[in-house]
Amino acid sequence: MDQPITTRKPHPEPQRDQEEESVHRALEGYYHAGKPPWDTGVTPPELVAMVEGHGALPPGRALELGCGTGTNAVYLARHGWKVTAVDLIDRAVDQAREKAEAAGAAVRLLHGDATRLDELDASGPFDLFFDLSCYCGIPLHRRDAYAAGLTRRAAPGARLLMFGYGPEPVGRPIPEVASWAAGVTADELRARFAGWELLDVTPGTNSVPTFWFTLRRAA
Ligand SMILES: C[S@@+](CC[C@H](N)C(=O)[O-])C[C@H]1O[C@@H](n2cnc3c(N)ncnc32)[C@H](O)[C@@H]1O
Repeated sequence: MDQPITTRKPHPEPQRDQEEESVHRALEGYYHAGKPPWDTGVTPPELVAMVEGHGALPPGRALELGCGTGTNAVYLARHGWKVTAVDLIDRAVDQAREKAEAAGAAVRLLHGDATRLDELDASGPFDLFFDLSCYCGIPLHRRDAYAAGLTRRAAPGARLLMFGYGPEPVGRPIPEVASWAAGVTADELRARFAGWELLDVTPGTNSVPTFWFTLRRAA
């Protein structure tokens, strides 16, 4: 049976500024309080379509940014993908490891920051990046680093499937986390992901504005 691989951060904690600390604390709070509200345990149909649907991508190497408790990383591994998955919060990574172990799925789990991939053992190249509501919560000043990290690790023609909240979806639930009010827009992604093409924008089905974005790295 395949075994999950968990890699602890080999480096000391990165220097985070005040806004990053606020985001970190807020996310930690969700995981330490119990099951976070987004942790449905269900793989979204948009990812299922990309993996199993008409014109599905052939299995390759995948990197999940903000994997949470690992539902989608395990799903990808069970469908033949070689998966690396990263999350900022240690408790999420621990739960993802347990989930992968229980499923007998080989997932490379990394505890670390999706905007600091160079500090992690995640060299790629990757054929698929999956981000479910990670990028849209990242402070604005760290987003170029996120885009550059993915771009450096993208195989020619790689896809990025991203779900994100639009700007000001629910006000600002935690006042000091200003970036959570910024959300993500198609224009922002076009501007930030140089060398990628925004192939599709599909509104989500939530009661507030959400979007599924599909981007393709130039071949
Ligand atoms: C909305 S949750 C989704 C989790 C998981 N993908 C799921 O579907 O259940 C977003 C996740 O991104 C993680 N995250 C936020 N910022 C991050 C960062 N800079 N680097 C890595 N993970 C991050 C959070 O800890 C959280 O687990």
